[in-house]
Order: sequence, then C-alpha cells, then structure tokens
Amino acid sequence: MSKLAFFNRLRIRSRSRQRLALVMAAWLLAIASILCSPSLPPSPAQDIPKILKMGTSADYKPFEFHNTSRGKDEIVGFDIDIAKRLAQELGFELQIVDMDFNGLIPALQSQRVDFVMAAMTPTPERRQNIDFSTIYYEAKNTIISKKEKPFASLASLTGKKVGVQLGSTQQDTAQKIPQMQAKIYNRIPDIIQEVKAGRVDAAVVEESIARGYANAFPDLSFTVLENSEGGYAIAFPKGSALVPAFNRVLDTIKRDGTLDRLAKKWFEAQGKPSGLGFQQILPALPYIFAGVPVTLAFTLVSALFGFFWAVVLALAKISDFKPLRWLANAYTSIFRGTPLILQIALVYFATPQLTGYDIPAFQAGVIAFALNSGAYISETLRGGIMAVDPGQREAALSLGVSYHQTMGDIILPQAIRTILPALANEAINLLKDSALVSTIGAADLLRRASVVGAEKYLYFEPLLIVGLIYYLMVTLLTAGTALLEKRMGRSA
Ligand code: ARG
Repeated sequence: MSKLAFFNRLRIRSRSRQRLALVMAAWLLAIASILCSPSLPPSPAQDIPKILKMGTSADYKPFEFHNTSRGKDEIVGFDIDIAKRLAQELGFELQIVDMDFNGLIPALQSQRVDFVMAAMTPTPERRQNIDFSTIYYEAKNTIISKKEKPFASLASLTGKKVGVQLGSTQQDTAQKIPQMQAKIYNRIPDIIQEVKAGRVDAAVVEESIARGYANAFPDLSFTVLENSEGGYAIAFPKGSALVPAFNRVLDTIKRDGTLDRLAKKWFEAQGKPSGLGFQQILPALPYIFAGVPVTLAFTLVSALFGFFWAVVLALAKISDFKPLRWLANAYTSIFRGTPLILQIALVYFATPQLTGYDIPAFQAGVIAFALNSGAYISETLRGGIMAVDPGQREAALSLGVSYHQTMGDIILPQAIRTILPALANEAINLLKDSALVSTIGAADLLRRASVVGAEKYLYFEPLLIVGLIYYLMVTLLTAGTALLEKRMGRSA
C-alpha cells in the first residue's frame, strides 16, 4: 500500500472517530452544564436572607448525626432541632452542610456557611475570628477508655496515648497534659474505634457523646471531668448581622421550655442499638449502594475531562513554541509534586474565596481530579507520541496533511493505542482515589460508609461492604479494559 493510501485509510477511519468525538463532546457539555448550574443566591427579605446555610460536623450523636435508615441521608439531633426551630421563627429556609469539625471555622470565615451549630464552645481564641450567640447548652468533658483500664483524672493520662478530635477544645485540653501523646482524628467515630482497638489508651470526649458510645459498647466506660467544658453556642462569621435575631429566639425557647423538651427528647432516647454488626447495617444498605452511581459518575467525568486536558498538555509539551512547552512542563511538575488531597482541599476551599462561587464538593472534586490526572496522562501520552515513528509525522506533513490532521488522525490514535494499558491503569487509580472526595463531604461510597459507621457506632462492617464494592467495580473495569485492548489489538 502506498503511503498516500495508508493515510487516506486512516482518514476515513477518522471520520467515525470524529463522530464519536462529537458525541463525547456533547456528553461532556451536558454533564458540564449540569455540574455548573449555579445554586440560587439567597434573596434578602427583611434583615434575614431566605436561605441560610448551616455548617455542622454530624459525627456528634445526639447533637448532630446522620440517620440513614430511611434510605436517604438525614442529619438529625438536638442542634438540628434547635436550628429548625430558629429557621421557623425567623422565616428562613435551612440548608445543612456537613463537614469535618476542623473545617467549620474556615467555612465561616470564607462565608461558605452563614452559621454553625456543632456543639461548638466559644473559646477566647475562636472569638477573635468568629462571633457567637449566647450559650444554649452546658457540657462537660469525659475520659473514655476500655472498661478494664479506667482513668480518673486528666493527670492520670500523663505519658499515655490520648485520642482527640482535630480542632476541638478537647485537643487543647489533652495537649496540656504533660508528656501525653495526643492522637488527633477528624471524626469522633474514628477516635472511639481506636480506643476499642487499644491503639490509644483513652480519649477525651464530651459527656453525652461518651454516654452514647458506652451504651452501645459494653467494653467502654468513662469518667466525667467536673471542670466544665464551657457550653455550646451558635457560631457566625465575624460581624454577622444575624446574631441579635438568633439570640432573641434562643432566649424565647429557653424560657418557654422548648429547649428542655428537646434536651429530654435527645438525651434520654440514647438506648442500646439492637442486633449484631451486619444486622444493624441492613437498613442502611440502600443508602450505601446509592453511592455506587455517585462514585462511578465522579470517576467517569473526571477521567473524560482529565483525558482531554492531557491531550492539550501533551500537544503543548511537544510543540515547537518554547514558552508553551515550559508552561505545560511547569504545570505537570506542580500537579505531580503536590498531594492530590491537598489539591482537592484547595479547589474546594479557595474557589469561593477567590471567585465568590460556592462550589459544590462534587464539582470541586472533578476539577481537582481532572487537573491532576491530566498532568499524569499528559506524560504518558507524550511518551506514546514519541514512540510513534517520527518519519510518519514528517511524511504526513510533507504530503500536505495539516498539522491538525496529522496529529488528530495519524499520530494520536497510534499513541493512544500504545498507552492503552497505562490509561486503563489511570482509570483504575481514579476510581479508587475517588474515595478522596469523601474528605470534602461528597456523598461517595467511602463517605457513606463512614456516615453509616458513625450512625450505628459500627465502623468495620460498612467499610468492609464498600471495600467489596470498590473491588468489584475495579475488577469489572479491569476486565473491560482487557477486552478493549484485545479488540484494539485486533483492529490494529
Ligand atoms: N465542644 C467542642 C469544641 O467546641 C467539641 C465540639 C465537636 N463537635 C462536633 N460536632 N464534632 O471544640
């Protein structure tokens, strides 16, 4: 076959590829438009906006925790009931945003949320950065540990390993104990799990929380520390105009007995959970399984965006224009040289601050993943392009085939075929790494496992279940790519 005929055949095949590309582009556009549909801005009515966002850290039963037994994820608890009452009295719609406790103050400062209810103690240090309502609940700390190894006082923790929640007042308390090894965790259930596993000697947690766990797990017990933790208040961004109105309603519900009634409802209802591990998880299964499409969609969208971005980067890297090459290389170096989890957090937390757009967790995750995986794939792709005989490029260009067609129809398809195994690997990595978006609160599989774990006071079982689901998905994906590779190999 002459060279010309060869290229012509490639070009004809490229037509169906173009159609495929068009369909893919249409899909991407559709997905992008769904992702980017702006959330409605709050419209001001009187002095309180119509929709108020409340930040919380729903790992704190009975104050705020997840309830998944109705197939969906609801955040309930003492704080939530108070917030609902406040919303009702002041005439705003309540939107609850769940995140790790240590993310709440940054969320207030970046105005991502309008207020926070998370059993938060108004400490003098916090008061420098955020405002607080009056106190609505008085709390005490406890030391929780294995029953056979109780601790009577903070002093008795000297030299011990003690679990505490990141950014909490308990962290400060524990760090005052001499020679103590503070072990810091994001979420309360993790801490309790570590106590149970004997990896820490004890943990400092608040009384109602400790009571719940001690009821659920007979092998745990706790000692109440009489020097009070100081009480909980609602937190606001510094200078928020909401504070007086909130204080007014808090005062009313304190005086008319609502607060006491709610306290009774939530603090006396802390019964023992029924059934063994897996039995208790059963009602939460539909909720866990609903994470599969979330994780898959996330992986797919990130992979598509990442791939297109990688093509752009790879072309820049092999271009004759030096600054372009330099830029693409610098980009890759940065994205490969910093942790992905950091990139995710940056996109999620910095976007609202820089642009005023309150980016949802899913979108932030997709952006970070696409940017990151684009950097990796672009290198693989560059390698693939280099592996194509340079004579082909020269021949095509000298035959008058445009750069665009040479690349799009001749070089890239061959490059992609050679790097297909590497691309499949990248897809598998993406699928597994997608679990990282759970750190910014996207309701993917892993997130759901920890939500259910926190709700049921069981950690191991839901993790095992999603572990199996991930494994199944990866196995299917591997089989799928093997098939694709075979077919591509045959048509080559
Ligand atoms: N009261 C403590 C503090 O203000 C702990 C609160 C933890 N709250 C939570 N939802 N995890 O630091």
